[in-house]
Amino acid sequence: MRVQENVSLKRLNSFGIDASARYFVEVADQEEVAAFVSEPHFADQPLLILGGGSNLLLRHNFEGVVLKVGFSGIELLLEDNDHYYLEVGAGENWHGLVMHCVANGYAGIENLSLIPGNVGAAPMQNIGAYGVELQDVFEKLEATEIRSGEYREFSIDECQFRYRDSVFKNELQGKYVITSVTLRLSKSAQLNTSYGAIEEELEAMNIGEVDINSISQAVINIRNSKLPDPDVLGNAGSFFKNPIISEEEFLQLRSEYSDVVSYPADTGVKIAAGWLIDQCGWKGKRIGNAGVHENHALVLANYGNATGDEIYKLSEEILNSVRTKFKITLEREVNVV
Ligand code: EPU
Repeated sequence: MRVQENVSLKRLNSFGIDASARYFVEVADQEEVAAFVSEPHFADQPLLILGGGSNLLLRHNFEGVVLKVGFSGIELLLEDNDHYYLEVGAGENWHGLVMHCVANGYAGIENLSLIPGNVGAAPMQNIGAYGVELQDVFEKLEATEIRSGEYREFSIDECQFRYRDSVFKNELQGKYVITSVTLRLSKSAQLNTSYGAIEEELEAMNIGEVDINSISQAVINIRNSKLPDPDVLGNAGSFFKNPIISEEEFLQLRSEYSDVVSYPADTGVKIAAGWLIDQCGWKGKRIGNAGVHENHALVLANYGNATGDEIYKLSEEILNSVRTKFKITLEREVNVV
């Protein structure tokens, strides 16, 4: 196990924030995790587990230990009449996995093409896009408890998946290192094109028969057209969650704003946070080096050498103005450290 000190995290977070880690350790297999958890020096240090760094806002230098999870490998564990079971190392790139599945005819995650980040982070926030969420294909995951070094599996129920949420963002935050995720992919594709933008894009692509390949390509086209590439402009995708309000509050809102963008949700009505922020006039606005993207108001970006605190302060201003105008309190989707 190699321990580095005072390491810049600029290239390891998609916002491109130049913060540093007091200690930095990379683990690539179970033995290295075991060595890390049994090291007494780290026992009392604040810990940040880092995957692809694509859902992270570093407000300050991290005065503790950053643990980078580098487990690799995609293994077909098993197949039955209907499914392929694929065990994937937490350090694998998510989009690389999607491309592997599309190429091999493993159906189920094609709608999740081009989501930045690593596989180990996918269950943390139950990643989702275009009508599909990780939980739809999740079988189990393996993780090691930091305190005890104990290794265990988590079933879907134990992960407590919700909209952009799981047990790992709540009571188990920072307690486990996720080392692999097993997905259950289908042999016969259940094509999910119901999300408006996909059908339109498939039509524009003018292809004959729709399959997982064309859906993946449609999603890639849509994302490329409205979400900035983090390698070109630092960002973390949607900065806030889409808030869920009650039916009653929704009717009140719609009576004032007939064009409000909403989706049905289990516990009420989900409102497009991008629309709320846009209505407050934020699209394309900048405060110093931090700004709101000109194509999508839900995406905050680093337009120069923004500090994490600059981006955070911009998010505070947005939160306040949405609360004042709509009486809705947005919740951050990114992990603020
Ligand atoms: N809108 C505006 N102004 C804007 C942006 C959006 O009016 O500046 C309105 C538009 O009417 C648009 C609607 O909001 O149609 C919704 O926008 P979009 O289709 O881009 O979806 P979203 O609700 O903003 C969610 C996820 C995305 C995911 C897309 C597609 C959240 C917080 N975000 O975005 O996930 O890719 O749906 O399924 O749920 C991410 O988590 O980082 C992410 C990008």
